[in-house]
Amino acid sequence: MDQNEKSRGLLPESKENADISVVSTKRVVLTDKHSLFQMQEMIKPAAEALKKGELAVFPTETVYGLGAGIYSEEGIKRIFQVKGRPSDNPLIVHIADINETADLIHDSAPDLFYKLAERFWPGPVTFVLPKSHKISDTVSGGKPSVAIRFPSHPIAQILINLAGQPIAAPSANISGKPSSTRSEHLQELVGKVEWIIDNGPITIGLESTIISLLQTPPVLLRPGPITVEKLKEIIPNLEFNLKSSKALAPGMKYRHYAPEALIKLVPWTENLSKLVKDVEEYYICLREEKKEILILATAETINYYTARGYSAISMGSRSNLYSIAQNLFHALRTIDALGYRWGIIEGFEEAGLGFALMNRIEKAASGRS
Ligand code: TXA
Ligand code: MG
Repeated sequence: MDQNEKSRGLLPESKENADISVVSTKRVVLTDKHSLFQMQEMIKPAAEALKKGELAVFPTETVYGLGAGIYSEEGIKRIFQVKGRPSDNPLIVHIADINETADLIHDSAPDLFYKLAERFWPGPVTFVLPKSHKISDTVSGGKPSVAIRFPSHPIAQILINLAGQPIAAPSANISGKPSSTRSEHLQELVGKVEWIIDNGPITIGLESTIISLLQTPPVLLRPGPITVEKLKEIIPNLEFNLKSSKALAPGMKYRHYAPEALIKLVPWTENLSKLVKDVEEYYICLREEKKEILILATAETINYYTARGYSAISMGSRSNLYSIAQNLFHALRTIDALGYRWGIIEGFEEAGLGFALMNRIEKAASGRS
């Protein structure tokens, strides 16, 4: 780590994975003020380095990704080490041109894939298909399939194009923690990756929807920004039973999205006066036990809590679930960042984007409350 980085405070945060060698992290900050040409010039060194086994954190429209070139086995292995990720949890392969799919899959893709890709790519949806020999067992976690996504974020597309190969990238967070959606969340990867391409806050804030096309009808493995309602327009018989462990993406069986603090989920009810009372009941109960508690509220409910002197932050408005999605992981991380030991989070209706939101919130709270 060079002097320059020390002076900028870019020091590794955690002591986990102490066996991983510390690397010097270069931060490339890109904003709206940069032209596409400037972005390309600034991204080029990171893209070149991916070919040699280096790692780059980069923005996508969903969450930040932690990328390695798929043909750099060394880089791929390091992703698992850096995240502390179980080796049987496969990575999503990111492409920047739909035609790249052909090379990555066994045989030809079903017609339905092209229909779905035409409608939703580039964008926040991932398709699981039988893999070709080009996908190593390390990338696929030993599975005969590969998950492929064509992100819509221009920086992700530039990085993939300049790297000259698809990029395997899980979410850029230590395994089990909430995904990274803001620059400050990337601090935990400083000293572990060579490149951080920092583009500030992420637009969507929830990971892509994952659909398995390995069987008919297709199966929803992870709900996400492309909602079940939208998918059903093209796949009316889409199957999903996310509460059964059989249908889940391999990674979903692991503890996920959870801060250090314990999370209590208060179930959604249309009657917001009842919802705030339910939250209050838990708050008072925990406070009697002298717990440090933060309420993750919404624009519609926050005043109720603050007026009573309860610690609370708003995740956004219930009338715009996109605002909640954008802030959810940051809110979960804020509980730890502010030193609270407990978080009480309000539930949402499991419809539209609310289905994906609740999937993440339930995992953040699972087994801990
Ligand atoms: O939006 C996203 O999908 C982000 C950005 C960076 O693209 N990526 C992301 O990756 O969320 P990750 O690794 O955090 O989550 C990928 C999920 C895991 O649950 C994994 O088990 C599942 O995708 N997955 C990957 N390959 C699979 C496969 N061949 N079959 C079934 N599930 C797979
Ligand atoms: Mg993840």
